[in-house]
Amino acid sequence: MRILVTGGAGYIGATAVEILLQQGFDVSVLDDLSSGFADALPSQARFIEGTILNMHTVREALTGASAVIHFAGKSLVGESVQKPDLYRDVNVHGTRVLLEEMRLANIKQIVFSSSAATYGEPTTTPITESAPTQPTSPYGETKLAIDQMLTKEASAHGLAAISLRYFNVAGSMKTERGWLRERHNPETHLIPNVLHSTADHPVKIFGSDWPTADGTCIRDYIHVVDLIDAHVRALRVLKDSHHAIINIGSGRGYSVREVIDSAQKVLERPIPTLDSPRRDGDPAVLVASIELAESLLNWRPSRDLAQMVTDTASSLELL
Ligand SMILES: NC(=O)c1ccc[n+]([C@@H]2O[C@H](COP(=O)([O-])OP(=O)(O)OC[C@H]3O[C@@H](n4cnc5c(N)ncnc54)[C@H](O)[C@@H]3O)[C@@H](O)[C@H]2O)c1
Repeated sequence: MRILVTGGAGYIGATAVEILLQQGFDVSVLDDLSSGFADALPSQARFIEGTILNMHTVREALTGASAVIHFAGKSLVGESVQKPDLYRDVNVHGTRVLLEEMRLANIKQIVFSSSAATYGEPTTTPITESAPTQPTSPYGETKLAIDQMLTKEASAHGLAAISLRYFNVAGSMKTERGWLRERHNPETHLIPNVLHSTADHPVKIFGSDWPTADGTCIRDYIHVVDLIDAHVRALRVLKDSHHAIINIGSGRGYSVREVIDSAQKVLERPIPTLDSPRRDGDPAVLVASIELAESLLNWRPSRDLAQMVTDTASSLELL
């Protein structure tokens, strides 16, 4: 069975490509390399360099595929505030092109990278899939718009779709070719930033007076390998004319301080930090309810924070 992986040269996509090949799938990748890297791709994957915005390229990339895992897109929250049109164009319009071409090619299965950013500030915790969706950034708005598009495409054209709403993805996978490391620019994710913290460039702690046990924000982290396991399971439970939305996190939260403590243990050195003011729109606690993932996908994450920090540190050659 051939899977088209859009965005397969990116951090999460490249991990998916590796695991799909290991599990015996045939893999095509469509990526414009705007934030991905061709050297992340193994030679067994068929690579089409191009954009999801071009219907001819998408058509070529879909050749022979039975399903799509759709990672391609822009994913920096801050950049989305500066460039909302770019985010709408690439994420929403790009997905529309992809869905139209899938319909023409009679390819009816898709798993999509949605995000916890669709929920915005939570009213209850842990966050279930039925929580209100009030995104606080254009990025979150584009993910929500795509989820809504998938719902319509499923009912109108028989698409079988699953949106996985990821919380904070972390960790790394080691392959025969080395670690598939996170290479975002700028890097906005806490774990790599904590690991790279130096006295000259200390990692910022945005608020230490939150209503949490240690005063720092609490987030839910999921190891990238556990995340891809959820995608492979999602492929197996897709249902025609049905769109499911499923949270993917670890179901427990770690505070910024706990992440720093974990990094100190792993690196065996102090992590310099800089106390900074709270950021607008940052909720105190963001933790996923993963009951639906457990029941629909028969999935549970198996890697904890220490493993995520250790694997990230190894991938960054800090160990
Ligand atoms: N990393 C996280 O914590 C996280 C959390 C929630 C959701 N997500 C979503 O997961 C997906 C993958 O995230 P990532 O962290 O691997 O990001 P990434 O930037 O490493 O990967 C995105 C990939 O998409 C490609 N791409 C971008 N625009 C494209 C276009 N127009 N046509 C073809 N390819 C294009 C990029 O070159 C890159 O390889 C994204 O959709 C992101 O929004 C990520």
